[in-house]
Amino acid sequence: MIQVESLSKKYARHVAVNNISFSVDKGDIVGFLGPNGAGKTTTMRILTCFMPPTAGKATVAGFDVFENSFEVKKRIGYLPETPPVYPEMSVVDYLHFVARLKNVPSAEVKTRTEQVMERCSVADVRDKLIAKLSKGYRQRVGLAQAIIHNPEVLILDEPTSGLDPKQITETRELIENLAGEHTIILSTHILPEVEAICRRVVIINRGRIVATDSVERLKHRGVGNAVEVQVDTDGQADALLVRQRLEQVPGVSKVLERSAPGHRLCFEVESLPDRNARPDVARAIVHAGWNLLELKSTTVTLEEAYLQITGSQADPASVVVDGAL
Ligand SMILES: Nc1ncnc2c1ncn2[C@@H]1O[C@H](COP(=O)(O)OP(=O)(O)OP(=O)(O)O)[C@@H](O)[C@H]1O
Ligand SMILES: [Mg+2]
Repeated sequence: MIQVESLSKKYARHVAVNNISFSVDKGDIVGFLGPNGAGKTTTMRILTCFMPPTAGKATVAGFDVFENSFEVKKRIGYLPETPPVYPEMSVVDYLHFVARLKNVPSAEVKTRTEQVMERCSVADVRDKLIAKLSKGYRQRVGLAQAIIHNPEVLILDEPTSGLDPKQITETRELIENLAGEHTIILSTHILPEVEAICRRVVIINRGRIVATDSVERLKHRGVGNAVEVQVDTDGQADALLVRQRLEQVPGVSKVLERSAPGHRLCFEVESLPDRNARPDVARAIVHAGWNLLELKSTTVTLEEAYLQITGSQADPASVVVDGAL
């Protein structure tokens, strides 16, 4: 649905987006992550035809964002960082205005406006001037204008920024509900939000893509071959003995004790790079006559994975991008 190929954007001499490529399938919901100044808004502005790229190309539903911007705009709803609202208009007048601007057929303008006001929970402030709305309500009006022409693609730039916890939850639910019918790219700095609603993430750092992957795979990435092992020795061995036995297993680089319920003993066992010590770990426990209760991959939180990916790379260009989008 969205194809970005070798896209770059320079502001004067500053390269904001540097040769990025990624694609988003129809119906997918993708979190666009990266530190402040990474290039997220710039990329979104190009995808929504607000400005042309310096090099490369992007297409939405097969239409080039630069050459066919009319076709692209028909198919895209955009919520910019600052919602594009007119403060001197009432909510309902503004949404009627946007609906006409976006070529919603005249006969449908009213019903469509009612539907999006209901969906974005702004019906109770329909006659209020936008200038008098709180930030959260203004954000929801911004979301309403983005979906009023029922676009196939939604590009949402930090849709929950500045909202209170209740509004964040409501907006998240709204986005999740929209996910089935629309292809969505949303940028955010709230990583639990990404875990809650996105299937995939694209991480950009200093203008370059540093990872495109599913949330699950990203969380497994940071930990290499680490596994969590739970053992019950029926009182025959204490944690120290078990740890020493595990440390002797070929390929194991580090063993850390973790807390575990009841009589269980729990360890995080790391293997040397390119070694998978799991079979030997399992064998060692069984040969010692202990019960192997669990052996599973450990994961890092999305936040830890994100910080590893964006924080440790001196040269983002050197990062291997895995997991096709
Ligand atoms: N109009 C502009 N003129 C010059 N430089 C700009 C302009 N807009 C953005 N930049 C620069 O381009 C880079 C990318 O900015 P962008 O707004 O795309 O980042 P972002 O990832 O959206 O960051 P944030 O998380 O803070 O919203 C930054 O270094 C920014 O200073
Ligand atoms: Mg931004």
